[in-house]
Amino acid sequence: MGTFDDILGHGESLVKNEDALDFEFIPKILPHREKEQRYLATCIKPLFMERTGRNLLIHGPPGIGKTVATKHVLKELEDKTDDIHVIYLNCWQKNTSYKIVVEICDQLGFKFSQNKNTDELFKVIAQIVNKKAAVFAFDEIDKVEDLDFLYRLLENIYKKTIFLITNYKSWLDDLDERIRSRLTLELVEFKPYNALEVKAILKDRLKYAFVPGVWEDDALELAANKSAEIKDVRSGLFILKESAFQAELTASRKIQRGDVEKAISKLDNFTIKNSEDLEEEMQFIYGLVKENSGKKIGDLFEIYQQNEGKSSYKTFQRKIEKLSENKFISTKKQTGAGGNTTIVEKKLTDF
Ligand SMILES: Nc1ncnc2c1ncn2[C@@H]1O[C@H](COP(=O)(O)OP(=O)(O)OP(=O)(O)O)[C@@H](O)[C@H]1O
Ligand SMILES: [Mg+2]
Repeated sequence: MGTFDDILGHGESLVKNEDALDFEFIPKILPHREKEQRYLATCIKPLFMERTGRNLLIHGPPGIGKTVATKHVLKELEDKTDDIHVIYLNCWQKNTSYKIVVEICDQLGFKFSQNKNTDELFKVIAQIVNKKAAVFAFDEIDKVEDLDFLYRLLENIYKKTIFLITNYKSWLDDLDERIRSRLTLELVEFKPYNALEVKAILKDRLKYAFVPGVWEDDALELAANKSAEIKDVRSGLFILKESAFQAELTASRKIQRGDVEKAISKLDNFTIKNSEDLEEEMQFIYGLVKENSGKKIGDLFEIYQQNEGKSSYKTFQRKIEKLSENKFISTKKQTGAGGNTTIVEKKLTDF
């Protein structure tokens, strides 16, 4: 029997709908974030009455529903009315004013962005949006390299609500006064879910994702407990998905405690953020680290330059720091004869 016959021959998958375990999946109902969603909706409400909306800084630790709750509200808004434009973008990916403005044009359905500069594109945006109103959500706002786009939106778009999303409330501390005073941000803190809430959310997700009855009770209990302990739903979803994968490796028709234990052992090396969200240059540097793990940062920079990398050493260092802060890679300080240096390493499970 061929390799695939062997693998596929063992009957159906345990997973009914793989997409439902994807981090981008938006469930129809979002339990335990009702209050936050109502608050976001309240900030948008003035736009329905021809007034301008309120602006929010949404903050809190990773994996606790900031992005999904915002997207959920925006989706409901789109279903409700055509009179308000809805723009959502992630600033890891679109990290300069120019890229952001091109993306906004794209989302507004303007197809002729090529060969136009930021000024020209911004005029297009104002022209389209000022006929109606708009909600702008900028996720991972702390990753953006300049805030010119924000200043322009504040100055030139009349009826709008702006949501800024970040893990770091302290991002506000360094905010340019001109922007801060125009934004008049309100703050919404997303607090981590408690253990019961995490368990309920994961159990709810099971219904979408798995064939009924494939989870042994004690296996599910372990997965839920571990997720509750780390207070982060994204890691919880990783455990569910990885446990199913482990069970399928042994062609088991049930997901058992041992499978969950294996999944949990991989958790340390799991990158909590989604690497597809990284913009091109970050992807490039991330790729170099994976290929050259364990090198000193200076040597890595040389490799970067040999591969046509254009950033200065300082910028390169900052990007390595950001990748490390978000647990895509790890760095450690080393003291040697030549002084201190940083060793840059990939995660063990990255290939
Ligand atoms: N209340 C909830 N109900 C169902 N799924 C949820 C809920 N909260 C979070 N999730 C799921 O958990 C995962 C992480 O949530 P989300 O991406 O919104 O986190 P986040 O707070 O934006 O984290 P980060 O700061 O890392 O971006 C997503 O897959 C999301 O669908
Ligand atoms: Mg998020």
